[in-house]
Amino acid sequence: MLWALLLPLLQPVVAETGIDAWLRYARVPNCGKLRHEVPGRIVALNNSEASPVYTAGQELALGFAGILDKDVQVSDTSSAKHHGSHGHSGTLMVGTVDQFADASMDVDLDDDELIADGYHISISGSDVHIIGENDRGALYGAFNYLNALAQGNVPSESYTSNPDAPIRWVNHWDNLQDGGTHGSVERGYGGESIFYWDGSVREDLSRVPQYARLLASVGINGAIVNNVNANESMVEPYIVQGLQRVADLMRPYGVQIGMSLNFATPELLGVLDTYDPLNQSVIDFWNQRTDMIYEHIPDLAGYLIKASSEGQPGPLAINRTLAEGANLFAKALQPHGGITMFRAFVYDSTSLNETEDWRADRANAAVEFFDGLDGKFDDNVVIQIKYGPIDFQVREPASPLFAHLKNTPSAIELQVTQEYLGQQDHVMYFADLWKSVLDFDLRVDGEQSLVKDIIAGRRFNQPLGGYAAVSGIGLNQTWLGSHLAMSNLYLYGQMAWNPDVSSAGVIEDWTRLTFGFNQDVIDTVREISLEAWPTYENYTGNLGIQTLTDILNAHYGPNPASQDGNPWGQWTRADTFSIGMDRTIENGTGFAGQYPPEVAQMYDNIETTPDDLLLWFHHVPYTYVLNSGETVIQHFYNAHYAGSENAQTFPERWQALQGKMDQQQWSETMHKFVYQAGHSIVWRDAINNFYYNLSDIPDELGRVGHHPYRIEAESMELDNYELYPVIPWNTASNKTCIVTTSNSTTGTASTTLSDVKTGTYDVAVNYFDQAIGHAQWTLSIDDTVVGKWVGDSDVTLSHAPVLYIDGQTAIRITFNGVDIKKGATLKIVGVADGQEPAPIDYVSIFPPGEVD
Ligand code: GCU
Repeated sequence: MLWALLLPLLQPVVAETGIDAWLRYARVPNCGKLRHEVPGRIVALNNSEASPVYTAGQELALGFAGILDKDVQVSDTSSAKHHGSHGHSGTLMVGTVDQFADASMDVDLDDDELIADGYHISISGSDVHIIGENDRGALYGAFNYLNALAQGNVPSESYTSNPDAPIRWVNHWDNLQDGGTHGSVERGYGGESIFYWDGSVREDLSRVPQYARLLASVGINGAIVNNVNANESMVEPYIVQGLQRVADLMRPYGVQIGMSLNFATPELLGVLDTYDPLNQSVIDFWNQRTDMIYEHIPDLAGYLIKASSEGQPGPLAINRTLAEGANLFAKALQPHGGITMFRAFVYDSTSLNETEDWRADRANAAVEFFDGLDGKFDDNVVIQIKYGPIDFQVREPASPLFAHLKNTPSAIELQVTQEYLGQQDHVMYFADLWKSVLDFDLRVDGEQSLVKDIIAGRRFNQPLGGYAAVSGIGLNQTWLGSHLAMSNLYLYGQMAWNPDVSSAGVIEDWTRLTFGFNQDVIDTVREISLEAWPTYENYTGNLGIQTLTDILNAHYGPNPASQDGNPWGQWTRADTFSIGMDRTIENGTGFAGQYPPEVAQMYDNIETTPDDLLLWFHHVPYTYVLNSGETVIQHFYNAHYAGSENAQTFPERWQALQGKMDQQQWSETMHKFVYQAGHSIVWRDAINNFYYNLSDIPDELGRVGHHPYRIEAESMELDNYELYPVIPWNTASNKTCIVTTSNSTTGTASTTLSDVKTGTYDVAVNYFDQAIGHAQWTLSIDDTVVGKWVGDSDVTLSHAPVLYIDGQTAIRITFNGVDIKKGATLKIVGVADGQEPAPIDYVSIFPPGEVD
C-alpha cells in the first residue's frame, strides 16, 4: 500500500467540499421518527429580510428540509397572531421578547433571565417558542435548536442560554492590497481574502453571507474585517462604501462589522501633517470620518487598533500615552455606541538586545507599557490581550496584564488560524490550550481570579469584555485550508459563549455535524483532536521554550537557532551548557513579579514551577532534573520521539475510516496526516540534533544521531546532482542535501543496496519542496519504478509558501511494502522545474512498523 502524498488525486471527486462546514443539514438516520416530533409550522415574528429573526425562520425551514426531509413554509408576523399555536402539529415561533409581547404571546421568563444575545427555548406540547432577548438572540436560539436536530435529537425540555461575555468577535488579518492585486490574508492559510481584491472591496461578496451564517451559528457577533497592520485607505469613502455592502450582508446574521485603523491615517493620507491624538485637527478628522462611516454602517461595532508595535505608528512615538491614543477613537465612536478594541500587543522590536542585557524581556512589555493607565481609558475602550505574553506560542503562561486591569475591560485574543501551530497542515484542536489560559487563576488580591471571569467582566465588575480570535479564513472551499481546522472556529464560538464547554463534547458534536454519525469517525476525530496539541508540543518546543519555528521566516518548520540573537525578543538563551529564559524576580528579567504575589511566588521558585513552563521562567543546565525525574535534555529527546511516533499513527487511524465518511473530506484529510507524519520526523531530528550538537549530551536511548536505516543522498553516486549545505544545518540529515546542477537539469542519484537483506521494507524519501517550482522525482529499485511524485505541496498543502531549502520545505514520502533484493540498485531521478532543483536529503529503508 502506498502512503502517497498524491492520494487526493487518486480518489474520485465527490460532493463534500467543506464549504457548508458544520451547517450541512445532512439527513439524520432517524429522520422518519423525528419528522413527526417537530412542529409543522414556522412563524418568524419579523418579516424584514435584514432581521436575524427573519433569517432564523428561513434557516429553520432549511434545516427541517435537509435534516428531516420536511418541507415547512415560514409565515410572517401578520399571520402569527391569527394562527396562534392551534395547528395540530404544533408551531415553532421565533422572535424577540418584545415581538412575542406585540403578538400577545405569553413568555414565561423571569425579568433578568435573559441578557443581551441570550435566548429561551420554550417547549410546550408540540409548540416551540424560540425567544431571543434581541434579534440575534432569537437567531442563536434557532441555530441551537437546529444543532440538536442535526445531531438527531429533538429538544423536549425548555431551556435558557446566555452568553458568558458580550464581545465575541473574530478578527481578520486581510489586506486591502498586497504588492498590487491580491487580497491576501496575513497568517492565513485558506486562500485569498473573501473581502478584498485589487485594493478595494470585492465586487463578488458571495462568500460573506455564507461566512456570517457560520459565525452566527456559534454565537459570534462581531467581525473586524481588515488586518491590524492596517491600510490608511480604510477610512476613504470608496472603501467605506464597499464595507457597507459587507455590513449589509452580515447584518441578517447579527454579525456587526468593525475596522482596524492605522494610527497615522490623517498623516498617511496627506490630510494633516500630524496624527497627535491631542491635536484638535486630528480629533476633528477622526470625528468626521467616524460620522461618515456610521452614515454608511449605522451598527458598526467599532475599531481595532494596533499602535506603537512592530513598526505600526502609535502615540508613544510622539510622547502621548496609549490611553490618550485609545481615547481618541473611543470619543469619536462614543456617540454612535461603538467600541475601541485597543491591543495590548505593544513592544519595541528594534532595541531589545539579548546578549548585552540579561534583564531585557519582551514578555515584560505589555504590563510595562500599560503601567499606570488602568482607569485612564474611556468607558468604551476594551484592552485586547493575547493569551500569553509573547505571541501565540505552543505553550505560554496567561498574560499577567489580565491581572492589572481592574478598572478597564479586557478581552482575550486567540488564534483560530494556526500561525505557530502547524499552519493547518499539522492537526490542531485548541480546546485544552485555550482552557489552560482561560481557567488559570491569577489570584488577584488573594482571591480567585480566573482569566475567563476577568474577561467576562465578572471579576472586576466590568460591563464590557470578552473574546477576539484571529480567524484566518479565505476563499478556499474548506475556509481554513483544512477540514479538521474548522473545528477550531466552531470551538471558538462555543467557548466564547460558554468557556466551560467540554473539550471532548465540542469535538464530538462538531464531528457529527461535519462528518456524520459513524461512531468510529466520531471516536477517531475526538481522540486525534485531543492528542493534537500535546503531540505537536512534543515534537516542537517543550517545557515552555516556545514553539521553535523559524521565527525569521514563515513561522513554520523547525529553526531553534532563529530564536536567539534577534531584536524580536522571542528568545531561549540556549548555550552549550544551559537553556531557558530566567524570568525570576531577583536574578532574571523580573517577569514573574508581574503576577499577583501567590502566582509570582509559584513561578519565581523553580521547585513550584510546573515542568511544562520550566524554561519559560528559569535558565537551567541541560542536566537539570525535572519533577518527572528526566533531565531537561533527555526530556527533549524523549518528547520528540514520542510526539513524532504518535503522529505516525494518525494516517493509520485515519485509513480505518475510509468509506465511513465522505470520500473527499476523508482523502483531503488523509493527505494532511501523511504529510504531518513525515514533517514530525523532520521536526524531531532538527530539534534533537540541534540540542545534541549544542550540549554534547548523548541520548540515553541512543537514538539521536543514529539512523541505521538511512542512506544519505550525498553518499550516492551522483550524475547531474551536486552537494548542497542546508541552512539551518539541523534541518537536513548530515547537514547536506543534493540539488540538480542547474534548474533545467535532470539529475540521478543511485546506490547499491549491499547492506540491505532481501525482504519487504518501507522506503521513505526525504526531500525538499520549495514554492518556486514543481520538480519531479522517480524512485526505482532495479529498474522497477516504486513511485513518482511531484513537488507541488505549495498547491496541495496550506502552510505559507517558502522559497528556501530548510525545515519549512523539508518533506517525506513513504512507500510501504517494497520488495528489495540484497544488492539491488536504488535510483532516484530528479527533474528540476522552475527554480526548484529537485533536492533530496536521504532515503530510509526500514522494516514495516518501525519509524526512522
Ligand atoms: C505576530 C504575527 C504578525 C502580526 C502580529 C500581531 O507577530 O506574526 O503577523 O501582525 O503578531 O498580532 O500584530
